Amino acid sequence: MDIDQFLVKSSLQFVDKASFTWQTPSNIALVKYWGKSEPQIPKNASISFTLNNCHTITTIEFQKIEKSEEVQFEVFFEGSKKEEFKPKIAKFFQRIQEYCPYIFEYQMTIHSQNSFPHSSGIASSASGLSAIASCLMSLEQQLIPALNADFVIKKASFLSRLGSGSACRSLEGPLVVWGNHPIIEGSSDLFGVKFPHKIHPIFSNYQDVILLVDKGEKQVSSTVGHELMFDHPFAENRFQQANENLTKMSTILQNGDITSFINLVESEALTLHAMMLTSNPYFILMKPNTLEIIHKIWKFRQEKNSNICFTLDAGANVHVLFPENEKETVLQFIENELSSLCYKKEYICDVSGFGAKQRS
Ligand code: PMV
Repeated sequence: MDIDQFLVKSSLQFVDKASFTWQTPSNIALVKYWGKSEPQIPKNASISFTLNNCHTITTIEFQKIEKSEEVQFEVFFEGSKKEEFKPKIAKFFQRIQEYCPYIFEYQMTIHSQNSFPHSSGIASSASGLSAIASCLMSLEQQLIPALNADFVIKKASFLSRLGSGSACRSLEGPLVVWGNHPIIEGSSDLFGVKFPHKIHPIFSNYQDVILLVDKGEKQVSSTVGHELMFDHPFAENRFQQANENLTKMSTILQNGDITSFINLVESEALTLHAMMLTSNPYFILMKPNTLEIIHKIWKFRQEKNSNICFTLDAGANVHVLFPENEKETVLQFIENELSSLCYKKEYICDVSGFGAKQRS
């Protein structure tokens, strides 16, 4: 693994002031990442659909200062100053300082907003940290004009990973693989890469409706969850299974075998939660309505001969996945039968997207 490629080796052409705005999305894994070693190296490869509508928009204003011992920054979220967001971002800066030495040369003012409700249970770390990483890479590109665009995306993904593992899958789309895997050319534990093969049309504009089952804080953070895979009795089998599932998923995405897709995606979701159920300490992130929804999805699929399926993140919310050609009937089913099982009847309609976009 060539980590050195991400160190700044050229001389920097400092500017006094700069400002960049990026919009970066969340993503939903089909083959899940659960278990890692330092520094954010995944125990198995994963693949996700990049989302489109669930995103963060972040602006960073950079003002040149005398080189400082500590990173100087302020954070505003949806217009208000947020001291409580600073420790997580400070930790991120600490992790990337070796690769972005210029962060000590600027006062940074970070303004961020999410397209989805805060504390909706949708992980904002993937979109939030990839947005900060993208702004930093815009600055780096200005300080080193010779950098090429492919390297900029790769390094943005590399930096995002150091903030929150799955964030490295949010830069491109519609499908991104993270983790070294023999059948995915160019794949790496250090950054996400676009799924390199042609995708069957059934999987284009793939729909994801996120049912907000529980808006509360999770009892167990994903950081703790990953740690519990350390001496988990099923860990090694799980890591091997996930890598095998990625091989299967690669074939399915190319040949359009949607029945196998449904089987694999749901099995991955339940296996992720099975790892939680069998950790020590054990924990349950699903809520009664999560299960109720799953059963209703299965019933609908059977009765209507539909290709609807579900996946889960590390939480109680349900992602309902289906092909674009079933949009009308599935949205009606969700509104009529599933929305009442959501917190305040809230759900978010999303679709696979193409990753980070520079706004200014
Ligand atoms: O990126 P983290 O550390 O929040 O972990 C995310 C793990 C899952 O969302 C449960 C699975 C995945 O691959 O996204």
